[in-house]
Amino acid sequence: MSTASPSSPTRNIRRPASLGGVLSVPGDKSISHRSLILNSISMGDALVQGLSGGEDVMSTMHCLQAMGVSIEPAGATGSYIVKGTGSKLEEPLDILDAGNSGTSIRLLSGILASQSFVSVITGDSSLRTRPMQRIVQPLKQMGAQIMARQDDSLAPLVVRGGGLKGIEYNLPMASAQVKSAIMLAALSAQGDTVIHQPALSRDHTERMVTAMGGRVEENGLDLVIHPTSLKAVDITVPGDISSAAFWIVAGLCQQNSRILIRGVGMNPSRTGIVDVLQEMGAGSGLLLVDQRIEGGEPVADLLVSPAALHGVEIGGDMIPRILDEVPILAVAACFASGDTVIRDAAELRVKESDRIATTVAELSRLGANIEAREDGMVIHGTGKLIGADTESHGDHRLAMSMAVAGLLAEGETTIHGAADASVSYPEFWQDLDLLLQDAR
Ligand code: S3P
Repeated sequence: MSTASPSSPTRNIRRPASLGGVLSVPGDKSISHRSLILNSISMGDALVQGLSGGEDVMSTMHCLQAMGVSIEPAGATGSYIVKGTGSKLEEPLDILDAGNSGTSIRLLSGILASQSFVSVITGDSSLRTRPMQRIVQPLKQMGAQIMARQDDSLAPLVVRGGGLKGIEYNLPMASAQVKSAIMLAALSAQGDTVIHQPALSRDHTERMVTAMGGRVEENGLDLVIHPTSLKAVDITVPGDISSAAFWIVAGLCQQNSRILIRGVGMNPSRTGIVDVLQEMGAGSGLLLVDQRIEGGEPVADLLVSPAALHGVEIGGDMIPRILDEVPILAVAACFASGDTVIRDAAELRVKESDRIATTVAELSRLGANIEAREDGMVIHGTGKLIGADTESHGDHRLAMSMAVAGLLAEGETTIHGAADASVSYPEFWQDLDLLLQDAR
């Protein structure tokens, strides 16, 4: 049973006797950002449906509106008409605020690099500590003028764009945000841009640019972007698998559960959590029902019920496919038999929080047997957590992971910073209450 109002920064949770119900998760955050950004620089108008109402996506929307793009609600919740500018944005009158959102600042920087005006973009105290050199360096190489704090590594970024040329670039890390920033700039550069990726990361930009008439050639891990103008397309955003992951783990680890999550995006670059949980023994506890294609992306309903999980080792190319789900996977690993080892995941240290340090610290408070490694963590499954005070560290995914840990722990768990969930999942606490009530 949870207490306190949904907007409260603190929530208390006790383990329920059962957990169940039918719900939909918010629109996919990555696809939502891209549907706004790419339609803003296209020719024509587009209807976007199922847009995430999370604060991160709203940051992108407000930045685009500050550059003269008309994005207006179109009736149903999550429906918007975006009026494409054909890539001519207006110089913003003030500093652009990306809030907590790495995707907003990095993807929008790719757009700002192509605009021949001066702009300044920044974000909250977390975003201002996150590495920006990774986009500043390639965008400068393409010809944009960019200055940033601490030797061009930290926001705020000051950008004077325009006059870009295509480059050949070896991506140092498998980052969809960096890849997408370069791709967006490449659309209006002189000449082709070639990106060599070290491993596959989410490919929503490639898919959407192609659907809009852009030319992106994919040869294994290499991408060639030919400069093109885009045509606006209507987009139906599927449910966010990264948000569904919380209920998947809750349902698998709760002994009396049955949860149906409708309309979840199943893009293969994002379904690592399903593959890893299957490898851990989820079996018929995690069923994909009614698999279909909607708006160019694979979608399924997920039916979740209890399963006996065992530990696994994950690393290498799996990490980009499960990047945002590691904190909730660590919760699952506490309830699995044996050890779970996560390696090659040093990128987690530069997310909304240092997710290796914060996940280990917070699960330790709940009595987990968990150790941090430089590039990951080791969880010795004990099948048990004990309620305690936990902290989100200003990180939405930590807040929600601790909520699920609290649903599974003995006694009472308090989550400080519970309201941080709204960065990606504003309805998280209401949906939690729904699963508690419907199960009664
Ligand atoms: C995102 C890419 C990922 C992910 C983030 C969203 C995106 O980061 O962690 O939440 O929409 O492109 P990387 O840039 O590390 O891939």
